[in-house]
Parts: sequence; C-alpha cells; structure tokens
Amino acid sequence: MTSPSSGTVHYSVEQDIAVLAIENPPVNALSNALRSALFEAIERFENDETASAAVLYGVGAGFIAGADIREFSLEPWGPTLPELIARIEACEKPVIAALHGNTLGGGVEVALASHYRIAQEKTRLGMPEVHIGLIPGASGTQRLPRLIGYDAAIAMITGGRPVKAKDALQMGLVDELTSEAGIKEAGIVFAQKIVAEERGPRRLAQVGAPAADAQLFDTARAEVAKKAKGLEAPSIALEMIANAARMPYDAALAIERRTFLELKESAQHKALVHAFFADRSAGRLPELKGVEPRPLSQVGVVGGGTMGAGIATALLLSGFSVVLVERDEAGLDRARSVITANLEGAVKRGKLSADGLAKLTGEALVLACEYEAFSNADLVIEAVFEEMSVKHDVFSKLDAVCKQGAILATNTSYLDVNAIAACTSRPQDVIGLHFFSPAHIMKLLEVVVANATAADVLATGFALAKKMGKVAVRAGVCDGFIGNRILAKTRAAAEAMILEGASPKEIDSAIRGFGFAMGPFETADMAGLDISWARRKRLAATRDPRDRQVGFADAICEQGWFGRKTGSGYYLYGKDVAKHTPNPDALELIEAERVEKGIAQRSFSAEEIVERYMAAMVNEAAAIISEGIALRPVDVDLTLLYGYGFPRWRGGPMHYADAVGAAKILDVVKQGAKDDDYFWRTAPLLEKLAEREATFASLNG
Ligand code: COA
Repeated sequence: MTSPSSGTVHYSVEQDIAVLAIENPPVNALSNALRSALFEAIERFENDETASAAVLYGVGAGFIAGADIREFSLEPWGPTLPELIARIEACEKPVIAALHGNTLGGGVEVALASHYRIAQEKTRLGMPEVHIGLIPGASGTQRLPRLIGYDAAIAMITGGRPVKAKDALQMGLVDELTSEAGIKEAGIVFAQKIVAEERGPRRLAQVGAPAADAQLFDTARAEVAKKAKGLEAPSIALEMIANAARMPYDAALAIERRTFLELKESAQHKALVHAFFADRSAGRLPELKGVEPRPLSQVGVVGGGTMGAGIATALLLSGFSVVLVERDEAGLDRARSVITANLEGAVKRGKLSADGLAKLTGEALVLACEYEAFSNADLVIEAVFEEMSVKHDVFSKLDAVCKQGAILATNTSYLDVNAIAACTSRPQDVIGLHFFSPAHIMKLLEVVVANATAADVLATGFALAKKMGKVAVRAGVCDGFIGNRILAKTRAAAEAMILEGASPKEIDSAIRGFGFAMGPFETADMAGLDISWARRKRLAATRDPRDRQVGFADAICEQGWFGRKTGSGYYLYGKDVAKHTPNPDALELIEAERVEKGIAQRSFSAEEIVERYMAAMVNEAAAIISEGIALRPVDVDLTLLYGYGFPRWRGGPMHYADAVGAAKILDVVKQGAKDDDYFWRTAPLLEKLAEREATFASLNG
C-alpha cells in the first residue's frame, strides 16, 4: 500500500528553458510524491525539444529542506532519492539548480546532482542530517568533498550547521550568487548563459575524489568525537567521507546508502525525530487557540541578583525596554555590573555589537530603587529571595503601583503561585514565569498557571518566550512544578542509592554515561546545596512521616559545605572546577549514617543506577501528567531537554520510557517498593500504560 503524500512539480518552458517549479509547502520536503514528480519532470525535459536547459527552483520560502521527516516511518514508494539524484545527473542537457531560502539535506544533494548551481544571497545551505541522527543518504558524503574538499565537507556534514550563500560561493558549492528577488528569473538568465556558452552537463560522480593526507581524517576523528557528546551520527558520517578517499565512488555510495538505512532504524534517530516534533508542538495548546496575548513593550524586573540580572539581560537582548528595581544603590551597582558582564559575553559570542551593548545599557535599561518606576510596565517579573513572606511583600507593592492590565509574574522555583496571587487584588493577572539560570542562556521557560490566571495572561507568557527565543512549557501549580519536582524525586532516588552503598561519584559517572552533561551531585554542588537544604526545611513541617530522608545531605550543609561556591560539597573544588575530586569528609558523613542506620554497603552497577534513576523520573512524570501539572508527556520531555541537560538523542524521559517500555519501568518501581513503598508509589498512569502496552506518545494528541 502506498502512503498518502503531497508535493508536485509544475513544468513550463520559458524562453527555451524548461522551468521545474518544486512545490510541497511549507518547506518543499522531498516526499514520495515530490520525488516521483521531479523524476517525471526531468524525463519530460530530456524529451522536450523546445527546451535546451532546465532550471529547478522551489516555490515559497526555500528550495528544498531535505527528506520528508513525516514520511520516514511510512512505506516509501516511487523513485528513491538516490535514484532521483542519479537521474538528474544523467540528464543529457544541462540542469541548473536555482537556490533560495533553506536548501538542506536532500535539497543540497539535488543541487549537487544538478550540473550548475546559482543561489540567492540569503540562501542557507546545510546538511543537518546528524541533528536527526542520520547521515546524508543520497551521495552527499561523496559528492560534497569532491566539490568543496574534505575540510569543508567534514565541517558541513558532521556539524550540521548551514553555511551562508557567500561562503558557499567561496568554497565552490555554488557557481554564482544573485541579488535578484526572483530566483526563477535569475535561474533562467543563468541557464541561457550556459546554453549560449555551449557548456554541457558537469557530473560530480565522474570527478575523482581529492587526495587526502593521512593525518587529516585522524585529526577530524578526534575533533568530531569530542564534540558529538554521545551522538553517533557525526562519527559515522565522517567515516563515509573518509571512504571517498579510500575506495571507488560506487562502492562508497553503496556503503553510504546502507548505513543511512540502518541509521533510519536506530534509537537515536527515533529520539531525535521525536525531539524535532516536540520542539514544534511546544506552544500548541488548545487553550491558547484564538487567544490574543497582551501587548508587551516595557518589562519590569524586581531584584538584581544572578537571576534578576540574567532575566533583565535576556529581556534586553530580545528588544524589550527594562526597568529593574533593587533595594538600594549598592544592589543597583551589582545588578548593573552583572548585566554588563552578561552583555559583554553576548558581544564575545557575536550576538551583539559593541554599539548595541552601549544602547542597551544606556537607553533600554532603567535602574531604580522605587517600585513607582514600574508604573508603565506591561509585565513585571519578580526574582527575589525564595521565601513566601518576601514574595507577599513584593506582590502587595506591585499591586499598588502597577497599571491596570499589567501582568505580575513570579520567577519562583517551588512556591505556591496561588498563594502569591492571593495577596493581590488581581489574581487573574498573576502567573509564574520560571526562568532557568543563567536566564540569558538557558532556553526553558516554565509558564506556571495558577487557578485564576486569565487565558490571555497565559498566552502572553508563551508570546514572551517566543520573542525571547525560549521554549515555553505550561505547568500547573505544585511544589517544584514540572522540572524541579522531577529533579527532587530523582535526587532522592540517587541519595537512597548512596545510603545503600553507591558513591556520589559512581552515580554521577553513571548518569553522565547515560548522556547527561553532569550527574545529580555535581549539579547539586553547582546550584548550591543550601538551596535544597532550605527547601527541605520548608517542607519539614508538612512532610509525610513515611517520607524517608537521608541525613547526610543536611549534615554536609551543617558543615557550611554548599558546593562549588564554598569550595566543597560532595566534591572538593580547586581553581579549575572541572577537576573536582570526591570530598573525603562528605564520604565519611555518609559512612557514619550507614553505620548508624545499620545499612550494609553493597555495590551498584552503572546500569542499575541508571535504571533506578530513570524509573524514579518516569514514575514521577507520570504522576505529574495524571495530576494535570503537565498537560502532555511531550511537555515533560521539553522541560528535561531544555532545562535539565537531558541528552537530546534520547528524546526526553517520556520518549525514553516508550523506547524501554512502560512494563520494564514499572518492574523497577515495584522492585523499589519492596524496600520503600512510600517513595516508590506506582503512578496509576504508568500502570495503565504497562497493562495496555501503550506509549506515553499516544497521549500527546
Ligand atoms: N520534513 C517534514 N516536515 C518538515 C520538514 C521536513 N524535512 N522540515 C520542516 N517541516 C515542517 C515542520 O514540522 C513544520 O510543520 P508544522 O507547521 O506542522 O509544525 C513546518 O514544516 C515548518 O517548519 P518550522 O521548523 O516550524 O519552520 P522554520 O521556518 O522555523 O524552519 C527549517 C524551517 C526547514 C529550517 C526547519 O524546519 C528544519 O530545520 N527542518 C528540518 C530540515 C532537515 O533536517 N532536513 C533533512 C532531513 S534528512
């Protein structure tokens, strides 16, 4: 059975040139239907005596954005991409690819099969396959190095980042640039020139591969492996490129195709495609449909500490004018210098010009000590100390000075947004906007909806995130919302393993091995151990007596060891924080607790550590979804991917659970419950999915 597929090619002849207009909105992905239509159009052109050359161009915003990712899981039909590409190249009359907009993956491969290439100045040419766990599968790894050399081809294919048209011209990827607005017209003029000069087809498959010195690939192997961070495709792609130097074209091509098809079945590819579509589903919530966000121009920030200054920086970089209020001049000075340092970092990274920096700090930023400065703000974000009485004070003051319709937001990480809203006369205008530190770098924004939050206030939270280039996730009110609630649970699971015998270092290594950039204890040391200590104290009065707490976490804090900032925590830190070593005194405190509680130390394999850690994460996430704190499993995936360093090539915890199977996760939860049936309470949703052999993905809608 063939799959439904969209995409067509419009054929016409203009001034003796065949014009093949490729159309498959929105991005002209190479669907089954489009490949068939293009194949037929090339045959038609070859037999068309009225046309002496052909121009391929894309209708809409770009040429071709690559293979149709939506069709990857379907049965393909019609000519494959390699067949289409071979057909284009074999054409006996010149074929010209006229490029504009996004020209990616298979789009570049179609352009490389064409005999000539002209591009509009704003074209982006790239081979992004590695970003979805693939390699170019239709000769890209063979044709590209033949055209632009090994170094440039390695950079484009293993890095996945597109190049600008002017760089493409310089490296020989395109023959000519045009500033013409109409790419079709520019293509026709170029084609007429080729015909007039009697230049026939040029076929890259017939060009010998450049020679490579022995060192080149060895150096590249080390560099690519270092950057890949667990992603397999870049190193595999590199070996394909190396094949160009060590075997004939056809043999290398066959290996490339076979490898591409194998990778299409790989777990990393499936996870990365899940992440690709997760990104695009982020803001698509039924409750936002048709709701207009409130206009935002001036934004206020209360508090100029690391978080407040980071939020102010992010707002400035996104084009907002910002009013920041601190208690006194000393506080304002600190805030000014942190914001300036953050912006200087943006200048260094090429995100801002020196002039731009001066404008942002000189004109767009206002610093003040009085709340009256917020009287014109459309939104005020509070980023003060995590203590309910302090929040009450801030929100009462904001309620008194802010204009009608202004949105009052809290950046709290854990506290009850309903209780914060209740101390204003306008709870409908109150929302949580939970940024992650450093706020001008981290992409996640949890948008926390309280009971009375108005729909257009929620819509404004999402619009703000979009303008700031952040990924917004809707979260309900509970202790820690989505991300920190899951973090607290997984950390507790890790602490329990420590009491049983694992060391912080063993746990951190296992979790790094899974693909996280850092383990839970390294992260805790970085964030500051006093933060979770304060939280434990806050929750102590209402804690269920069955909720077992480890003593060593408090004992470590009682010594004044708060992690990196004090030079010691679970690890000891010197000047180079990356070279930390286990803190023997902390290990002693842990051992003392084991002895006191009569726990016999046992060893843990990395696999068991990951299994337990992930089971705690998935089980808690399932509870969070059932309670409506997260609306969809994909929102949990986005939260962990963008706020907590979850490896993208694993797709997020819910995708991981689907890959492993709910039943297997449930087994680990039940195993844990034999020892601690309070901590390992099974989330009913996990049980239901396991029973039905269903996936979390099936709940994404
Ligand atoms: N196949 C199928 N659908 C695709 C697609 C592809 N290769 N590329 C984009 N789309 C879809 C998106 O899912 C989105 O659909 P939606 O509106 O239903 O969510 C729509 O096209 C627009 O994409 P979006 O990413 O929102 O637009 P953009 O203008 O921000 O970015 C691209 C456009 C092409 C740069 C970006 O979509 C992209 O990088 N696509 C993947 C390219 C790729 O990896 N190609 C190689 C595949 S092997």
